[in-house]
Amino acid sequence: MIERRDNMIRVLGIETSCDETAASVVALHEDSRLEILSPKILSNVVLSQIEEHAAFGGVVPEIAARAHVEALDGIVEAALADAGVGLADVDAVAATAGPGLVGGLIVGLMTAKAIAKATGKPLLAINHLEGHALTARLTDGLDFPYLLLLVSGGHTQIVLVRGVGDYRRWATTIDDALGEAFDKTAKMLGLPYPGGPNVERVAKEGDATRFAFPRPMKGSPQPDFSFAGLKTAVRQAASAVAPLSDKDVADICASFQLAVSDALADRVGRCLARFHAEFPEIAEPALVVAGGVAANRRIRASLEAQCARNGFRFIAPPHELCTDNAAMIAWAGIERIRAGMTDEDAFTFVPRSRWPLDEVSAPVVGSGRRGAKA
Ligand code: KG4
Ligand code: ZN
Repeated sequence: MIERRDNMIRVLGIETSCDETAASVVALHEDSRLEILSPKILSNVVLSQIEEHAAFGGVVPEIAARAHVEALDGIVEAALADAGVGLADVDAVAATAGPGLVGGLIVGLMTAKAIAKATGKPLLAINHLEGHALTARLTDGLDFPYLLLLVSGGHTQIVLVRGVGDYRRWATTIDDALGEAFDKTAKMLGLPYPGGPNVERVAKEGDATRFAFPRPMKGSPQPDFSFAGLKTAVRQAASAVAPLSDKDVADICASFQLAVSDALADRVGRCLARFHAEFPEIAEPALVVAGGVAANRRIRASLEAQCARNGFRFIAPPHELCTDNAAMIAWAGIERIRAGMTDEDAFTFVPRSRWPLDEVSAPVVGSGRRGAKA
């Protein structure tokens, strides 16, 4: 049971599912009708491991797990200190228990179990994707239902968020995740890791009309995404004009980014129409974006325009809450506590490298099986 003091819930969140070691304390003040009142991120500490992995051009699971072991204690202490609280002031501990790289998940969940056991606090084993899915309620107080577009290194999904623990996946990738496509494109063109921000930077100087890359799945009645064919087209274009000048690289990046933005807008458009059809009573529907790729300005602009055309609000949480962080895990813990969804078995929960948000959706061929957190 969660003890409530001063109508306040404070949760310590821990996130270690990929290459960020993160801890955060989030607080929620409730009034007597249990309405959400001003959730507050008291601290949000994220240590990126990018430098440890850069030489390898991608995340190396063993290096990631070791780095989490070394850093996590200090990151948790920093999160408590930044929040100005001690463990005694925390009401529960929430940790990412999947999906992700299993070594990192073990480090985070075991640490959370130890803290919770030693302090007698409840433990919540959180699905990382649920953290992304609920962030817009922390930042914007959004009501259910809404649509979530999750575009990161491991996932490319459109999810209907109906309530806490109530998700329906409407679209997913049948091959590569979008962030993965950015990272592989960057690698082919000799740009450093992580690829996405570098492709965006270089694309600014490029001519997006020089290469007519395919818009995968555009116009298809199937709602899903695909990026493998686009990656092949980039490789062919690059070998056709090799040796590549800076101008060639910039033009390929700009053309790739335009193709991706176009394809995404088309896929998202289908789901916006479906949402209107299924929820005609919702006057101001919303699309939320999350994941590292949501930082891309060209992609944001194209999604924003698509939302405007379809009468949707476009909600992009601040960058540091779109990418992996522990505030979203603490917040998901608070949402679960408020919904009465605390799990007495959390102490025996085994980390899950694969853990779809929507367990009932039929798997799509090849989908969700790529990337670190597929
Ligand atoms: O959400 P995130 O930080 O971690 C995962 O859960 O994967 O996403 C990382 C991914 C990487 O593939 C990275 O290349 C991509 O997001 N990314 C971008 C941009 N910034 C990060 N992709 C395109 N444009 C960007 N500006
Ligand atoms: Zn993530």
